[in-house]
Amino acid sequence: MEYINKESSSLYNCWLNYDKEVTLSDEIKEILKTIQLNEEGIIINTAVKELSRAIKKLIGKTPEIIKDTMLSHIYLGKLKDKTIKLVPGGFSIKKSTLNQKNIIEILGKDENGILNGVFSFIRAIYTGSNINEINIVDNPRNMVRMINHWDNMSGDIERGYAGESIFFKDNHIVENKSRIRDYARLMASVAINGIVINNVNVHKQETKLITDELLPEVKKIADIFRAYGIKLYLSVNFASPMEIGGFLTADPLDFNVRTWWKKTAENIYSYIPDFGGFLVKADSESRPGPFTYGRNHAEGANMLAEALRLFGGIVIWRCFVYNCKLDWRDRSTDRAKAAFDNFKPLDGKFDENVVLQVKNGPVDFQIREPISPLFGALKQTNEFMEFQIAQEYTGQQKHLCYLVPMWKEALDFDTFANGKDSNVSKIVDGSLFKTKYGGVAAVSNIGGSECWTGHPLAQANLYGYGRLIWNTFLSSDEIAREWVKLTFGAEKDVEQIIVDILLESREVYEKYTCPLGVGWMVNPNHHYGPSVEGYEYSPWGTYNYADYKSIGVDRTVATGTGYIGEYEPTVADKFENLATCPEELLLFFHNVLYSYKLKTGKTVIQHIYDTHFEGVEKVDEFINKWETLQNKIDSKIFDLVMEKFQIQKKDSREWRDVVNTYFYRKTGIDDLYKRKIY
Ligand code: GCU
Repeated sequence: MEYINKESSSLYNCWLNYDKEVTLSDEIKEILKTIQLNEEGIIINTAVKELSRAIKKLIGKTPEIIKDTMLSHIYLGKLKDKTIKLVPGGFSIKKSTLNQKNIIEILGKDENGILNGVFSFIRAIYTGSNINEINIVDNPRNMVRMINHWDNMSGDIERGYAGESIFFKDNHIVENKSRIRDYARLMASVAINGIVINNVNVHKQETKLITDELLPEVKKIADIFRAYGIKLYLSVNFASPMEIGGFLTADPLDFNVRTWWKKTAENIYSYIPDFGGFLVKADSESRPGPFTYGRNHAEGANMLAEALRLFGGIVIWRCFVYNCKLDWRDRSTDRAKAAFDNFKPLDGKFDENVVLQVKNGPVDFQIREPISPLFGALKQTNEFMEFQIAQEYTGQQKHLCYLVPMWKEALDFDTFANGKDSNVSKIVDGSLFKTKYGGVAAVSNIGGSECWTGHPLAQANLYGYGRLIWNTFLSSDEIAREWVKLTFGAEKDVEQIIVDILLESREVYEKYTCPLGVGWMVNPNHHYGPSVEGYEYSPWGTYNYADYKSIGVDRTVATGTGYIGEYEPTVADKFENLATCPEELLLFFHNVLYSYKLKTGKTVIQHIYDTHFEGVEKVDEFINKWETLQNKIDSKIFDLVMEKFQIQKKDSREWRDVVNTYFYRKTGIDDLYKRKIY
């Protein structure tokens, strides 16, 4: 891992870079000189440390920490006032007076709440809020707010685009854990409270993470996380009893296998008393699972749940289950249907401490997908949303793609599962169907790169993810603006330029890559760059059914795969009907002629040509705008972003040319404007 001079690197410090000019009134400066604290606790200690660190930068002096004071001060503690409703992790911040002195109280429901309150207070200062009138009550929307790492013990990261793992190297857990501490800090500052440190694809070495050989080191990471209010979770191999237990079976109904898991859980908790639980990818993409023994997913998950229940742990069972060998030319089969087909029949059959984790779309993190129909279909099962912050299909952190608008779209989607206003947020937070656990998880985009995320602007996705799942009512614009202020400072024109670029970036990427929800026009396996027929599980040619006269996957009930029938009738009708189907998803749901007219009056083929040209032009515009920021922002960030933009410039042209040429050759239809496309 590279050596990084942390204090001086704004790339490294991300949104917790406190070296910025802030104007504070004398009154507030006076308050910041003293912290009153009457409670003890590991997380409270962190809160005090974090607050002191920021204050030292703000007033040039470390605050004094005292139990009792008649001076102006900040008070840190737990909320006692019963009239304010806080949930775990929630907090209130208020300025008031006591004995004619000014005070600011940061009160948490619990220790986590105090830490969240401290970071919120620091954020309020650095985003220019009026601290003289601060008065906040803030509760998290989702109780579990998770990051999933796809890190392997070799140090590689599956779908990692920002360097090597910060947890593992050469099949060991890293000895120097200072970077893990800094990471915990970053995550706590956006209220993440759960982290899975290893890949869902659990290979031989990682299977041992739950054994005495590696648990002493895993414990050290859990200790670091704990101080920041974060629980550690592990991905486990369903076949562990065979791989490390010496069994000949991993059958979930086998008494000895069940006992082995119980003992294993007990042992983990002896090292890590607040261990969060297991994340499991089973019977998917060649991973072992209950199918081998003729058992179903509920039987598999419940076995693990039984082992963890006594200790308060949960099993997070992924629904990314499909048969990758499926011959998709048979139009009654459809990969998009797989998660629903596997899990809907099991609704209500999972134990109380099992959560099903469902990817936002039915396929796999494409730039545009409809919501997975499992949201709404599962009514008696805990359900987490799974997003991907790592930009696997969205430019691999070489291209800019601010993903918050995509996630917001997914969370805001109305499933009609319980009548109108049954949006996905209400399902994943547990409120719609009164399920016990609610939460959101996302695949991490960080690694050992100096700026953590490879592309400095991809930090906005990491930050934005945490903020959005805490408060799903925040807009993409608000979140972008917060991030820009915290990262670059308060200069108005800088803020506007960067916010504009961020907000446009997803649509720009979509324009020069996959039009109208068609997806999968990407090089197989590594998933970077254009390949219209590139679906890796397809020896049969293009997955999007493009031929010389039409394109798109017919998923209608009337004539297609029937996938649309998995939604509630109100939603299904909308998608089924060409006139009401959202056009950005047209080719996900329908196969249409290239001459089909869109609402813009353009034909589908002309839309493909135009968007590919526009996308490239927009990238050039981004570069021109970015150039105006030279000498106005940190030069290292400026240069690194420019470097990435140059890659995006070159590669967006390749996308444009490959895609347009492909369709020109396939259809023989000329571009209306006779631009050069081959
Ligand atoms: C995608 C990704 C894989 C990953 C899988 C998953 O298919 O390309 O690398 O393992 O998703 O979510 O399990």
